[in-house]
Formats: sequence, C-alpha cells, structure tokens
Amino acid sequence: MSSESGKLAILGGSGLTGVALINEALYQGYSVRALVRDPSSLNISHRRLEIIAGNADDSEAIETLLQGCAAVVSALGPTGRSKSAAKAMICSTATGHLIEKMGDIGITRYILVSAASLVMPADKRTNLFGLVTKYVGSLMLGDIIKDKKREYRLLAASDLNWTLVRCPSIKEGKFINEVKVNRLTVPGGKVRNAELARFLIEQLVSTEFEHEGVFVASA
Ligand SMILES: NC(=O)c1ccc[n+]([C@@H]2O[C@H](COP(=O)([O-])OP(=O)(O)OC[C@H]3O[C@@H](n4cnc5c(N)ncnc54)[C@H](OP(=O)(O)O)[C@@H]3O)[C@@H](O)[C@H]2O)c1
Repeated sequence: MSSESGKLAILGGSGLTGVALINEALYQGYSVRALVRDPSSLNISHRRLEIIAGNADDSEAIETLLQGCAAVVSALGPTGRSKSAAKAMICSTATGHLIEKMGDIGITRYILVSAASLVMPADKRTNLFGLVTKYVGSLMLGDIIKDKKREYRLLAASDLNWTLVRCPSIKEGKFINEVKVNRLTVPGGKVRNAELARFLIEQLVSTEFEHEGVFVASA
C-alpha cells in the first residue's frame, strides 16, 4: 500500500517498537489507526493518527481497528507488566482474529514483528547469532516462543500476504543505517527500534519478503 491507498492499522503501538513504528508511519505520510489498551499511555498526537481503545484479544476491537484500513503492521507482544499475556498467547490470539477479520474485509497485507528464536523450515543458522537464538533463546523465551510458533502456523495456513520480521534483542535507538537483512540466519545481536520501524514500513511497498520470515539486525 502507499500512503494514499488507505489507512494503516497498527497493533502494539505503545511499546518499544510500536512507538517508533507509529512515528515512522506518520513521518512517511501514512494515516494510522492504532489499537491500544490505554490511550493515555501513548504520547503521540497527530492529525493523521486515530487511537482506538481496545484489547487485541477481542475480535470486535480488531474489527473496529480495521475500518478504512488497507494493511496491518503489528509490534504486539507480552509487556513486562503482563507476562501472563504470553501464557494467554496474545500474539497468536490477535493474529487469529486478524486472519478472520482481514479476510472478511478484504485486507491482505500483514507485516509483523517476531523473534529470532522462531525456527522456520528454510533457516540455515550457521553463525553464532543464529545458533544462540535457536537453542538458548528459545529455551529462555518459554511461553513467548510457543505463542510465536503458533502465530507462524496460523499465518502459514492463511490466505494473507504476510511478512514476519524476526528480531534479535530490540533496543531503543535512533536511525543510523538501514538494517541488515538475511533470509537464512540472524545477522546480528540487536536491532535499534527506529531502524526496525523503517524496515517494517518499507515492507508496505515491497514485495520482496512476502510469505517469508526474514531476519534483521542493526549494522
Ligand atoms: N524487546 C525485544 O528485545 C524483542 C526481541 C525479539 C522479538 N521481540 C518481539 O517483538 C515484538 C515487539 O517487542 P517490543 O519489545 O517492542 O514490545 P513491548 O515494548 O513489550 O510492547 C508490546 C506492545 O503490545 C501491547 N499489548 C500487549 N498485550 C496487549 C493486548 N492484550 N491488547 C493490546 N495491546 C497489547 C502492549 O501494550 P500495553 O502498553 O498496553 O502493555 C505494547 O504496546 C513483540 O512481539 C516481542 O515479542 C521483542
């Protein structure tokens, strides 16, 4: 989608990645509808930003979010104050609702942040970052990685045009360089949130990584 072809729905907009994502989308001229549980937690106001109060585990809230939208970008995840959200499978639950409601409305493009520890069939994790995230990261992530795996299975079986962006540790940081991108293994140990946000928004006008789970890291 281009910034003229409709609004962009964003989930997880109050988080580390999500704030950078909303700012980048607005900077690039998109009109944004952001679903947040607590609107007061979002310190961004802009004439092209609509804030929708609601929970991503609620299919009606998802349906409301999607009104007038042409694509979805999600940086949703269990926050520090709600690790139980991982146990409750918030990412896969929200993605399940999105698959259904996007299908009903006719929105196809879905770009979402996932974890470098999520293993996919085409991976060739020959370097240290790839191996550590596969074996150590997945053990440490517990319910979070179970949720990410379930989310991936739902996407793979869906008709949506999805791109999973698999990340190592996400850190607060300004844009310095384009992220390094790799289809097979994890190209670094961290990614700055502003650089990740730029990459996520670029995927709206790119067909390069459709139906893929690409790895990114800061240069
Ligand atoms: N942080 C990392 O180092 C890292 C590394 C690899 C992958 N990831 C993954 O990348 C994604 C983004 O990470 P992040 O660190 O930017 O996330 P984050 O700062 O923890 O933010 C998560 C966002 O999800 C929202 N959220 C959680 N449960 C919700 C619900 N039920 N309804 C609506 N919104 C809900 C939170 O809203 P509230 O403000 O209401 O809590 C927050 O906006 C996540 O999927 C995470 O698992 C993170």
